[in-house]
Amino acid sequence: MDFARLWLGLMLPLVVALDFNYHHQEEMEAFLKDIAKNYSSITHLHSIGKSVEGRNLWVLVVGWFPKEHRIGIPDFKYVANMHGDETVGRELLLHLIEYLVTNEGKDPDITNLINSTRIHIMPSMNPDGFEAVRKPNCFYSNGRENHNQYDLNRNFPDGFEFNNVTRQPETEAVMKWLKTETFVLSANLHGGAVVSSYPFDNGVPATGTLLARSLTPDDDVFQYLAHTYASRNPSMRKGEQCKNKMKFPNGVTNGYSWYPLVGGMQDYNYIWAQCFEITLELSCCKYPQEKKLPFFWNENKASLIEYIKQVHLGIKGQVFDQNRNPLPNVIVEVQDRKHICPYKTNKFGEYYLLLLPGTYMINVTVPGHHSQLTKVTIPEKSQKFGALKKDILLPFQGQLNSIPVSNPSCPMIPLYRNLPSHSAATKPSLFLFLVTLLHMFFK
Ligand SMILES: *[C@@H]1O[C@H](CO)[C@@H](O)[C@H](O)[C@H]1NC(C)=O
Ligand SMILES: *[C@@H]1O[C@H](CO)[C@@H](O)[C@H](O)[C@H]1NC(C)=O
Ligand SMILES: *[C@@H]1O[C@H](CO)[C@@H](O)[C@H](O)[C@H]1NC(C)=O
Ligand SMILES: *[C@@H]1O[C@H](CO)[C@@H](O)[C@H](O)[C@H]1NC(C)=O
Ligand SMILES: [Zn+2]
Repeated sequence: MDFARLWLGLMLPLVVALDFNYHHQEEMEAFLKDIAKNYSSITHLHSIGKSVEGRNLWVLVVGWFPKEHRIGIPDFKYVANMHGDETVGRELLLHLIEYLVTNEGKDPDITNLINSTRIHIMPSMNPDGFEAVRKPNCFYSNGRENHNQYDLNRNFPDGFEFNNVTRQPETEAVMKWLKTETFVLSANLHGGAVVSSYPFDNGVPATGTLLARSLTPDDDVFQYLAHTYASRNPSMRKGEQCKNKMKFPNGVTNGYSWYPLVGGMQDYNYIWAQCFEITLELSCCKYPQEKKLPFFWNENKASLIEYIKQVHLGIKGQVFDQNRNPLPNVIVEVQDRKHICPYKTNKFGEYYLLLLPGTYMINVTVPGHHSQLTKVTIPEKSQKFGALKKDILLPFQGQLNSIPVSNPSCPMIPLYRNLPSHSAATKPSLFLFLVTLLHMFFK
C-alpha cells in the first residue's frame, strides 16, 4: 500500500484554484472537463455547436439535475465573449463556475441556488474571435467578429426590421439552444464600457423611439434586473465613466437610449425565446491585462450571484386540463404585458413570468378558445429561491396534444408597431438628453 500517496491525497485539497490568467480554448476545455468530472453530480458539460473554425461552443450546466429540465426548476443562462476581443466576462464565468461548485454544500445561499435553479454557463460564444486577438488591447480589434467577419451581436433576427445578414454558425447554435430549453432569465457579458443595459436595443415609435428609448411592456422588471446587477458592482453603481464615453446614472441604461442596434441577442431572447436578457458591460478596457482580472472578479462576484437569484421573481406553475393533463402551447401572459410572440407553456405545461411584487391579472388562453383571467398577488417578500407557485386548471377536457404549436404564429418580423402602445412606452424619459453621443460606442 502506498501510504505516502494516501496521506498526500488526504492533505491535498480537491481543487487547485483556478488562476487569474486568460484561458485559451484548450485550457478552458481542460478546466471545464475537470469540473464536469470532479463535480459530476451537479454539473453537465456539453457543446451546443461549433464555431466557423470548428471550436466547440461549450456550455457547463450547474444544478441539482444538470442534465435535464425539471418541472418547477427555472433555467438561467450566462453567455460571455460573443465579441471575441471582450474578454473579462469569459474569465469571470470560469471563476463563477469554480465558485458555484466549490461552495455547493458549504455556503447555504449557493447550495439553495444550485438546488433550485438550473444554471447554464457559456464562457465563450465566439472562441475564434478570442483566439484571433493575440494580446491584451483595450480597444476594438478584429477579434470582435467571428471568423467570417460577422458581428454576432448584429446577427440575430430583429424584432423591428429585416436583418438581412447571413446567419453565422455561432448564432444558429444559440438559436437552436434557445429552442431546446425553457430559459427564463439571462445575461450577456461584454466589455468596452461599464453599464447594465436592458431591452430593447432596437425599436419603433410604439416602443418609445420618439423619446430616444425603446421600452418593453416589462420595463419595471428590466429596470429592477439591471439595477440588481449594477448596484452590487462598485464601479458600475457609481456610473463610472470610461474615457470619452457616456455617463450612465446608477450604471444602468436602456439599450436603445445608449445607441440603437439591429439584430442583437438580448432583443432576440426577449421577443422569440421568452427569456429576459440584459447586456452587461464590465470593463472600460475590452481586453485588460491579466493582473486586472482579480479586481474584476471582486467587483462582479456578488452581482453575478445575486442576478441569478432573480430567475425566481414572480410567478410560475403549470396549466392543466380537467383530467390533470399538462397543456403545452397555452398562452400565459399578464393582461397589460402582451408580448409580440405570445409567451406560452412549454411541453410540460409550465409557465414562468418574471414580475415584481403586486397584483396582476393573468390571462390564460388556449389558442382558438376563450381566455381565462386569474387574479394573482405576488407578495412583497417573496421566497428567495422560488417564485410564487400557481397551477391553473382549465375547463377543458381530453384535448391534450390538440393545441397547435404555432397558433397564433409568431411572425418572422413581429410588427411591434401593430401592438396597442403599452404603458411602459409612455412614461416620461430620463434619457432624452443623452442621444447625441450614441453612435460613438460599441456594445
Ligand atoms: C479535479 O480533481 C483532480 C484530482 O483530485 C485535481 O487534480 C484537479 O485540480 C481538480 N480540478 C478541478 C477543476 O477541480
Ligand atoms: C433541495 O430542494 C428540495 C425540494 O425543493 C428540498 O426538499 C431539499 O431539502 C433541498 N436540499 C437542500 C440541500 O437544500
Ligand atoms: C434582403 O434579402 C432579400 C433576399 O433574402 C433581398 O431580396 C433584399 O434585396 C435584401 N435587402 C437588403 C437591404 O439587403
Ligand atoms: C387574453 O389573451 C388573448 C391571447 O393573446 C387575447 O386574444 C385576449 O384579448 C386577452 N384577453 C384580455 C382580457 O386581455
Ligand atoms: Zn460587446
